[in-house]
Amino acid sequence: MLKKITTVASVVLLSALTACGSGDGAGTGSSGSGTITMGFAQVGAESGWRTANTKSIQDEAKAAGIELKFSDAQQKQENQIKAIRSYIQQKVSVIAFSPVVETGWDTVLQEAKRANIPVILTDRSIDSDDTSLYKTFLGSDFVEEGRKAGDWLVANASGPTNVVELQGTTGAAPAIDRKKGFEEKIASKSDIKVVASQTGDFTRSGGKQVMEAFLKSQPKIDVVYAHNDDMGLGAIEAIKAAGKVPGKDIKIITVDAVKDGMQALANGEINFIVECNPLLGKQLMDLTKKVVAGEQVPERVVTEEGTFTQEQAKTALPQRQY
Ligand code: AHR
Repeated sequence: MLKKITTVASVVLLSALTACGSGDGAGTGSSGSGTITMGFAQVGAESGWRTANTKSIQDEAKAAGIELKFSDAQQKQENQIKAIRSYIQQKVSVIAFSPVVETGWDTVLQEAKRANIPVILTDRSIDSDDTSLYKTFLGSDFVEEGRKAGDWLVANASGPTNVVELQGTTGAAPAIDRKKGFEEKIASKSDIKVVASQTGDFTRSGGKQVMEAFLKSQPKIDVVYAHNDDMGLGAIEAIKAAGKVPGKDIKIITVDAVKDGMQALANGEINFIVECNPLLGKQLMDLTKKVVAGEQVPERVVTEEGTFTQEQAKTALPQRQY
């Protein structure tokens, strides 16, 4: 039976997390009452995508009868590591997390392994040679997302094209992979050049700030490639403030397809969006039940995603859930 759902939004309250300990479940798969407890260490609340992802996890844990202990790391790896250690102390049945950055996880995940607590990676993966540190990784193929953005530009660019890139959080899997996939595709066209590339930390304010600087330092900008909608939306504000028309004077490509991004696409201010689906909650809870029951799960579960043009956004918007 569902006992309690602990939601800690915006701040990491480790003392509160410790106080929520549910007893003797580690290694046995569930607490004494038979309820599965999940410790979830979220990245933060940096974007519309993240807000939708958090809601999906909280709603689906409730629907599945899984007791959720939730923490928000405010985009800091050290906060996530503290939260994971707290979940180990509390002897949760499963730890799930979306790593802020790719590297630096081996020590804390070895601690979870020694405590016999299975770990599930969701949304973002880690860079480690030791795949025994986690049971499965559920999330998007970020390199493929970058490729889709690059394909669209190659098909739609005419003549010499200067691109500025708004990168996601430095060291984060989606920032590394979306850059890689995009570069791979535009390499086929020598007149498409990335003339400036900087992190906007996946936030709207970061995207705006970096775009303001690009507009001052770059004499000719034809295209913005933003690693998420929020940074693209920030760039739109900067472009308008500079007296230019987003979507026309400067074309914009983003990733995510959250409602605000889709609205800007339908309005003609963004030109193309590559989808990244945040609704991972249901699949995560299904995988959790299997892992706790000792069943085999695939090492990798890839989310299915599409792309949106301006016309497609107009059709899809009324049904968009997030
Ligand atoms: O890891 C997924 C990415 O993180 C989303 O594309 C971005 O909006 C979020 O912050």
